[in-house]
Amino acid sequence: MRNAKWRAATKAALALTGAAALAASMAMFLPGTASAGTTLGASAAEKGRYFGAAVAANRLSDGAYTTILNREFNSVTPENEMKIDATEPQQGQFNFTNADRIVNHARSQGMSVRGHTLAWHSQQPGWMQNMSGSALRQAMLNHVTQVATYYRGKIAAWDVVNEAFADGSSGARRDSNLQRTGNDWIEAAFRAARAADPGAKLCYNDYNTDNWTHAKTQAVYNMVRDFKSRGVPIDCVGLQSHFNNDSPYVSNYRTTLSSFAALGVDVQITELDIQNAPANTYRAVVEDCLAVPRCNGITVWGIRDSDSWRSEQSPLLFTSGGAKKAAYDAVLAALNAGGTTPPPTTAPPTTPPPTTAPPTTPPPTTPPPTGSCTATVSVNQWPGGFVANVRVTAGSSALNSWATTITLPSGAAVTNAWSANRSGNSGTVRFTNVDYNSQVGAGQTIEFGFQGTGTAGNLSATCA
Ligand code: G3I
Repeated sequence: MRNAKWRAATKAALALTGAAALAASMAMFLPGTASAGTTLGASAAEKGRYFGAAVAANRLSDGAYTTILNREFNSVTPENEMKIDATEPQQGQFNFTNADRIVNHARSQGMSVRGHTLAWHSQQPGWMQNMSGSALRQAMLNHVTQVATYYRGKIAAWDVVNEAFADGSSGARRDSNLQRTGNDWIEAAFRAARAADPGAKLCYNDYNTDNWTHAKTQAVYNMVRDFKSRGVPIDCVGLQSHFNNDSPYVSNYRTTLSSFAALGVDVQITELDIQNAPANTYRAVVEDCLAVPRCNGITVWGIRDSDSWRSEQSPLLFTSGGAKKAAYDAVLAALNAGGTTPPPTTAPPTTPPPTTAPPTTPPPTTPPPTGSCTATVSVNQWPGGFVANVRVTAGSSALNSWATTITLPSGAAVTNAWSANRSGNSGTVRFTNVDYNSQVGAGQTIEFGFQGTGTAGNLSATCA
């Protein structure tokens, strides 16, 4: 019954546009799969999340492939079919044939679709590779506009820009013909995508951004923080999460997920595969996502090992013969652990209508007193630097404002903070609320964070 409702809701959502578009995009993440607890999609849905797979159009005629796809997954990402070389092979001539095959299959099964990808330095058609300057900028923006408009209302989330940062320790943008059109090319792409499809969530997507201490992770983080502060329309960050011996899963992955989420964006694990598919690592990734309310979905980059771009690493959840691997069992168990939780929502909270008549006495002219609070700090330290996450929890009364002080050991200094105002940078540092997190309901928690140099040690915080 519930699944039938979800399927109906999804179909209805697909028809919505305009003001209902945000709600529609959320509904499109909801599933249309079989019974809860027995498949990846249904179990993820019970946790308010989706579980997706990258899909290749030319495999949709393979019955063994589609049997697993339809049974297990409630989201799909076209693996190559929405890339620029596929959708605009000649300038101004668009081809959506293969992408449509995947989108139509997904819609017929009640699955949501992640669009991948509108602007990227790679898999550009020849005509685009040969362009530069303002002509390329215009061509890129036209591509974003045309493709996002064509799929308007059908895409839950777009990877608007893919892989724009360099590997290594520079923290710089990757050199590319797009980057050479000007540093603002990324935000220009996001603005064009928002204008074309206001209902789709707009993501920045990259790889090797899983380890919180890596320069590339920090660089993407700083860009997203900057975008949020300047009103650039970004809704989500995609962590590709291709884990292997050279780029392994690390235990600070959860810090990365929660740190991005604390910026006010959703976080999606967009291309998950793990060399040799160790069950414990797959389990850890799922547990990390479930621990972060705004981590709202996981996509594996292929279905069977034979479908993987790295098939020699056997990195997926199904054998080439279509059998469930130990990693599959671990993922399903992790998704099912702890019972069901309501879906996290990114929509503004709605206030229920009052059940009693409004009071006739005038409202008090002084603001209600601010209650007490507690604060806890968790630190991620690396040689020479650290990031701290602070959780401020209201006591039995709601807070209208809050302030915490944290005393750093000598030699440690704060370099930047987010979701809080800061005074001081060493010794005793005081953090106070910003506008959007001043109100904290009784027993509720907000988070802020700061980055610093030196060694933080064990930090504690006072709260008032
Ligand atoms: O379809 C042609 C086939 O006709 C031809 O015979 C054959 C010869 O090489 O090539 C086939 O196309 C290949 C295509 O995959 C489909 O299999 C391309 O050469 C090959 O380059 C392409 O690789 C894709 C790769 O992106 C290209 O960058 C992978 O499938 C795809 O999984 C991979 O996906 C990327 C994400 O988009 C971004 N993140 C990293 C991820 C893995 O590289």
